[in-house]
Amino acid sequence: MASKKNNPKEVTENDSNSRRDFIKKSGLFTALAFTPPSLVMASENKWDEKIAEYLETVPLSIEVNGKKHNLNIEPRTTLLDLLREQLQLTGTKKGCDHGQCGACTVHVNGTRILSCLTLASMQQNAEVTTIEGLSKGKKLHPMQEAFIKHDGFQCGYCTPGQIMSGIACIKEGHANSREEIREYMSGNICRCGAYHNIVDAITEVKEGGKEL
Ligand code: FES
Ligand code: FES
Repeated sequence: MASKKNNPKEVTENDSNSRRDFIKKSGLFTALAFTPPSLVMASENKWDEKIAEYLETVPLSIEVNGKKHNLNIEPRTTLLDLLREQLQLTGTKKGCDHGQCGACTVHVNGTRILSCLTLASMQQNAEVTTIEGLSKGKKLHPMQEAFIKHDGFQCGYCTPGQIMSGIACIKEGHANSREEIREYMSGNICRCGAYHNIVDAITEVKEGGKEL
């Protein structure tokens, strides 16, 4: 039997659709590539980003703070950028964007992670909790209350990450002494130097034995 390759008549509808699609997309690129004013306008209107987005998105199903999202994202999007820029959850902070400061710490399926080092596309069906997801209505989470009580923050920039890490530190069983807390919180940098008070807050929550 002749193969499809050798028989041009045997082109399926899918084939011709994807060819048409391809021609449409390449036509768009050609038009932009050979018309300098179009290029300038494209960049001014962020068309280049929109085109890249259209061509290169992947579907993602993710639950954030109990809310399900079905999204299309660029494969290179980090979880941090997804949270902050697509879902407008700006409580999670971008400090270094290189895994060195802990400001971007969130929980994924109950485990703390650095969202700046995590590709969102790898979190299919994951359950994410951010600082916005801790309180129950107006009732703050015990760790948030303890940070306020013990002055665990000054400028507050590192605080969401510190709080997410502090909760995980207790849940992981790594809050049995001040030294241990310091060690297991060492990935969270505080430029204001609120470390002593942060340890006070975590110690109080650990000793309080409340459900986290
Ligand atoms: S922003 Fe992720 S560790 Fe600094
Ligand atoms: S409170 Fe300012 S960086 Fe920690």
